[in-house]
Amino acid sequence: MTANGIGEFSFEEFLANYWRQKPVLMKGAAKEFLNTDFSLDQFHALAKRLRAEGSSDLIQTDGKVEFIEQISGHLEDFAERARELGKAIGAPRTWFDATCTHVDDGGLGEHFDHSDNFVILLEGQETWRLSPPSGIDRETVAMRMAGVDGVGGHKLSKEGLQEFDLEAGDVLYLPLFWVHSGVSKGKTLSVSYVVPAVSFENLLAPALSATMREMLLGYQPVPFTGAGGGRDEALAKAAGLLLERAQQGDFRERLVSNMSRMLDQVG
Ligand SMILES: [Fe+2]
Repeated sequence: MTANGIGEFSFEEFLANYWRQKPVLMKGAAKEFLNTDFSLDQFHALAKRLRAEGSSDLIQTDGKVEFIEQISGHLEDFAERARELGKAIGAPRTWFDATCTHVDDGGLGEHFDHSDNFVILLEGQETWRLSPPSGIDRETVAMRMAGVDGVGGHKLSKEGLQEFDLEAGDVLYLPLFWVHSGVSKGKTLSVSYVVPAVSFENLLAPALSATMREMLLGYQPVPFTGAGGGRDEALAKAAGLLLERAQQGDFRERLVSNMSRMLDQVG
């Protein structure tokens, strides 16, 4: 990738034709995408350092796969690159992870993420299979976005299944919510560029609260009505009044401006 694009595409082309739409394999685009070197030696040196520090960013699964979360939190080159790319994409917080596999068939299993990912293969060979989000029901996607524990593992569907063979130097774009599985052939080193999705709920809930405080809305005390009832009626009235007030332009403007400010502060 050049400073103005992703793989052989300009940012505009990539965002219009691939972003959150379909996967694309960019042969030989790794060097430009990263704009910095990263070798197995560097991976092991960083892993050693993190192990000594007792960092939770180093995750090892049964000796077959070593995973370092957020290498961009430890290596300034990667931090700089994540900032550049995030700005071009319009995403508030992005990062790089790194994975090293030591065996054939090393991988994380079939799953989907609540992020767009770019797999940048630096050493070895991997085969990736992907199927579109249409194979996942809406509720499961919503639970993933809501961060419900244990949601994410998902079988690939036959419909729309695509397979990509990656060699060292290739970059594969995995769009948001596509089910995927990557399998190594022997020893591999890869870096992933992660662009996490932000839900409207993430912004709306705190922005609503901020807007109500700024506009001095909902400050009336909730009545304590004893055992005789009437509490739910009072709550329903308050909810109705707020929803009515929210229809007005000044409220909506303030809410949007608070959501926008909160999106800039994500991360
Ligand atoms: Fe993944």
